[in-house]
Amino acid sequence: MSKATFDPKTYNLSSNEAFATVLQKHLSRRSLIKGGLGVAGMSLLSGFGLSGCSDDDKSSAARGTLGSSSETLGFQSIPGSRTDAVVVPEGYNARILAPWGTPLNSTAQAYRPDGSNTAVDQENAVGMHHDGMHFFPIEGSSTDGLLVINHEYIDEDALHPDGPTIDPVTELRTSAEEIRKEINAHGVSVVRVQLINGEWQVVANDPLNRRFTGATEMDIAGPLANSPLLQTRYSPAGDVTRGTSNNCGNGSTPWGTYLTCEENWPGYFMNSAASRPADQDRLGIPNDGTRYGWHHLAGDPSEVDQEFARFDNTPTGASALEDYRNEANGFGYTVEIDPYNPTAKAVKRTALGRFRQESRTFGPLVEGEPVVSYAGHDSRFEYIYKFVSDALWTAADANPVDRLATGSKYMDAGTLYVARFNEDGTGDWLPLTLDSVTTDGQTLGSLFATQADIILNTPGAADAVGATPMDRPEWVAVDPVNGTVYFTLTNNSDRETAAAVSPRVGNEFGHIVRWNEDGIDRFNWEIFVFGAPAIADADTNRSGLTTANQFASPDGLIFDGRGIMWIQTDNGAEAVTEQTNDQMLAVVPSRLRDSNNDQRVVDASNQDELRRFFVGPNGCEVTGLAFTPDHTTFFVNIQHPGNWPFSDNAAEAAPEGVTVRPRASTVVVRRNDGGPIGV
Ligand code: FEO
Ligand code: CA
Ligand code: CA
Repeated sequence: MSKATFDPKTYNLSSNEAFATVLQKHLSRRSLIKGGLGVAGMSLLSGFGLSGCSDDDKSSAARGTLGSSSETLGFQSIPGSRTDAVVVPEGYNARILAPWGTPLNSTAQAYRPDGSNTAVDQENAVGMHHDGMHFFPIEGSSTDGLLVINHEYIDEDALHPDGPTIDPVTELRTSAEEIRKEINAHGVSVVRVQLINGEWQVVANDPLNRRFTGATEMDIAGPLANSPLLQTRYSPAGDVTRGTSNNCGNGSTPWGTYLTCEENWPGYFMNSAASRPADQDRLGIPNDGTRYGWHHLAGDPSEVDQEFARFDNTPTGASALEDYRNEANGFGYTVEIDPYNPTAKAVKRTALGRFRQESRTFGPLVEGEPVVSYAGHDSRFEYIYKFVSDALWTAADANPVDRLATGSKYMDAGTLYVARFNEDGTGDWLPLTLDSVTTDGQTLGSLFATQADIILNTPGAADAVGATPMDRPEWVAVDPVNGTVYFTLTNNSDRETAAAVSPRVGNEFGHIVRWNEDGIDRFNWEIFVFGAPAIADADTNRSGLTTANQFASPDGLIFDGRGIMWIQTDNGAEAVTEQTNDQMLAVVPSRLRDSNNDQRVVDASNQDELRRFFVGPNGCEVTGLAFTPDHTTFFVNIQHPGNWPFSDNAAEAAPEGVTVRPRASTVVVRRNDGGPIGV
């Protein structure tokens, strides 16, 4: 995330039963089921294939044809680390690639370490605070491709020579140039990279290099396209909006496009009117100011097309055509980008829902079946969603002539569902359509006039149908071997309702939930691994973690093509941060099996299979992972480091007493012998 932009307020005021309570009841049921066998503690949690459990325990149901990866981890877990350097296992190296400010074309001047690059430089250079990322090979190559990188937010102190300029009397921002630079440091970078003489390099001036910033015009597709809800002074037809913002996790489509997800965008807008649309309160748009004060420069003589005024959504005109009351309605989406087409506009796919989106991942593709994708809303007590396309998958669409038209086919029409987790280990996908039944026996049609209205206030609709409030859903990943879905629930230190009944007071350290689908509208779930300090008691350290793999606040979650799952952390728990900086761990979930060949969760008996592969420098978050098709290069992002990078070697710390301007960067991880990573 963004420790800096996380909004700790709870906006979900529904009385829907929280996941913490569901989980506690679930664990109690399992205790009862297994209690007679004298099995206690951690083994109670190894559901999902647990042999000999009662029919009442649905976690073991619907296993499907679950295959196993053929890979095993070929490295030893590395110790925790707290230095200004990246740490990788012996036999690996870590190099810096595409740090913030790297010029992408000749318009941008070279990066200057005093922070004095201009707004125009920034518009033509790699953005700040790297996050989700994907590698798109050129013609299948593992040495030539497009690295597409999200830029989640900014560090104003690092972006400008002396931080943001603020009038000491009015406390307002005073420099339009600074604000344009900040807007341009947000968004997405498309960067041509090539492996030349053993080193990955940015290809300067490549025609495919591209920036999408917080000001780039984008199309709107799906139910909100051309809706009155999207009309603004800038876009009277409601068909375009300016910019993508807070691009956190990502996705990639089966047809070769990039998906970037808009997460903590509400704080960038404000509406001080006494009467506000319901979605603005539900999603958390402030009434008294914007995150960096971009609206302060409204009316500046240099302002073009209300580029600053648009962040204040307080109605000022006679209608939406005269002001920016609807500007924020263009944010909160999954945005599709065709990286191979440098002239194609980005498209916001509104049918997928509007919330604080973290990442989006597709389920397994089956010829003649709908295309399914998942995404979570990263806030306390928010929901997990899936979208099921109306169109049925055909393999010819894996290599289409028009990639964005294919995106429209599978992402503009379909059904949006939200998850309800049940204490017996089952779950229900609840549709968010006008005829969906609400918890009080009405329909969503009694609360919303159109599907566009439902989408605009997606979490409000989810409240009404009885979805399960989760502990901050972050990334979602799908095992390519067997289709099991994994979701990081990063943490929730505000679980008063659960504290009364759970020995695991709050969810300070986070966990990863997984499920198997059981048709379109049912699933079976369990907890795969609980984060914890190694020294914690058994009620907290339920997965038996040791110093070799203790972690907290799981966030980034990515399967590579071989069925290895990579877990990245964005730590907020002191008991673990005292032991190690944020990190990346690996495990092959489909290989965790018991003597009956049933799939297991991580527990004390198999925790050696969860291994620490990478540790980041002090102050950072490790987030975003991409890899070449042959898995010989991994790209890992370091966001908001403290005093790093010192040199091109990501594993080299600045000498004692030396400080550098921190730069988020991609780290290239390779094996010294050039072999595949991790095995
Ligand atoms: Fe941007 Fe939820 O992390
Ligand atoms: Ca995140
Ligand atoms: Ca996070």
